[in-house]
Amino acid sequence: MEKKGDRLRRTIQYILARNIQNIRIMPVNFDWFLTEIFDENQFDEIILNFPDPWPKKKHRKNRSLNPGFLGKIHFLLKQNGLFRFATDYGPYARRCIFYFRKETRFKNPDKEYSFSRHDFPVSRFEREKTEQGCRIYFLERRKS
Ligand SMILES: C[S@@+](CC[C@H](N)C(=O)[O-])C[C@H]1O[C@@H](n2cnc3c(N)ncnc32)[C@H](O)[C@@H]1O
Repeated sequence: MEKKGDRLRRTIQYILARNIQNIRIMPVNFDWFLTEIFDENQFDEIILNFPDPWPKKKHRKNRSLNPGFLGKIHFLLKQNGLFRFATDYGPYARRCIFYFRKETRFKNPDKEYSFSRHDFPVSRFEREKTEQGCRIYFLERRKS
């Protein structure tokens, strides 16, 4: 799901050039879309990769991941379904860890976060950030 036209266009060009078949793109704002369209307990896995960090304090309310969003993720995931989150912005990662500590709807993980993610495709954004020397925070939680 992506709401910006230029990013959609680039992604579609990439997919066509490589004839990638197992992907669907939705030009939507996922803030309203998720729970309006899907029924509950539908997804084995939900991935939120590098959402906009909104570093300024007055803009923090725009961040995708907040307790309300975790409620939507919980609604959409099957039992034991996996939520994966990645960010290169440390304060955002710490805030998410804080939210999860207060959550009873997700299981406590072995590790609260990690700096690497194995057996998982690296997105363009992740590659660029890694090449710039940014530290990437990966969080994973399963629905209780
Ligand atoms: C930093 S980029 C991450 C790109 C990609 N996930 C990756 O890992 O390479 C964040 C993207 O999320 C999109 N976005 C942010 N909020 C959104 C929303 N509510 N609905 C749909 N797309 C959104 C932005 O337009 C932007 O392209």
